[in-house]
Amino acid sequence: MNSLLSPDTSNSAPSDPVVLCSETATSTPTVSTVSSSSASISGARGASDLHPLHAPLVFRPLQLCDREEIQRIHEECFPVRYNAKFFDNAVKNVLADGRPLFSHVACLPLPLPSSSPPLLTDSIVGCIISQFQSSQKHEHLNLLSPSSLQTHPLIMYIMTLATTQDYRRTGLASLLLKKLIQSATSNRNCGLIYLHVITYNTSAIKFYEKNRFERLGICEGYYCIEGKYYDSYLYVRYVNGGERCRSWLDSVDEVINGFIGWFGL
Ligand SMILES: CC(C)(COP(=O)(O)OP(=O)(O)OC[C@H]1O[C@@H](n2cnc3c(N)ncnc32)[C@H](O)[C@@H]1OP(=O)(O)O)[C@@H](O)C(=O)NCCC(=O)NCCS
Repeated sequence: MNSLLSPDTSNSAPSDPVVLCSETATSTPTVSTVSSSSASISGARGASDLHPLHAPLVFRPLQLCDREEIQRIHEECFPVRYNAKFFDNAVKNVLADGRPLFSHVACLPLPLPSSSPPLLTDSIVGCIISQFQSSQKHEHLNLLSPSSLQTHPLIMYIMTLATTQDYRRTGLASLLLKKLIQSATSNRNCGLIYLHVITYNTSAIKFYEKNRFERLGICEGYYCIEGKYYDSYLYVRYVNGGERCRSWLDSVDEVINGFIGWFGL
């Protein structure tokens, strides 16, 4: 596969990740508990089988008091090291350039003050952080067809998504992703959601493919971890009628598939 995007260090590289403004920063944060209907979104679970671990969880955007917790979960779950500014901005949900940030965390509520030792904040067991970006940026132009570029000036980029070990394979990341997809689709200007996954991260690859993301290409040397460069796959899910930029190879594929279908091969 060809490289589609050059490394975008402004978004996800360890040295300088950037978090953008949050729509939630100026409004009252919405807090929700998990419901059996929302638990069915992964497709693997029915509406009635809410995972028992999810029952006490509270879902809400990041808050200032999450500063230490959000860093802890990132250091626990990612080999990439994010700098302090990334976390400072994430919990403020605001950056200078004014673009929106979508953050959502799943947390176990604060225990009673009498608990020993007393905890100062909720314990975060899952989080998703993403941002709207302009689809017109040079490196994004090949993600959408020319007509989609006109109708969809925005795209959403998933910066990080993680769940702690105890909550893995319980559908929690799927719940957080569903909330992000709802946010992206509720903005009609947004034509796609995309992300990078380091090529050896098979669990994340399986996770995104199960959630109907398609692999569009490979970005060589996208991540730098402890001085070594690693390739990443680019995954995309189109929303709001956004369409892929098609190459002549796609047309050849279609003709071949047409013949295969026609002759019943
Ligand atoms: C990737 C990650 C977010 C998945 O979280 P999760 O809470 O386990 O995800 P879910 O329970 O919603 O999984 C949904 C589906 O994804 C796939 N999946 C998730 N983890 C998998 C694994 N280790 N192996 C195979 N498939 C896996 C499965 O199809 C799963 O459905 P199933 O359990 O019914 O088989 C989690 O493993 C994680 O935090 N990893 C570290 C951080 C990271 O790599 N983030 C992604 C890059 S931003």
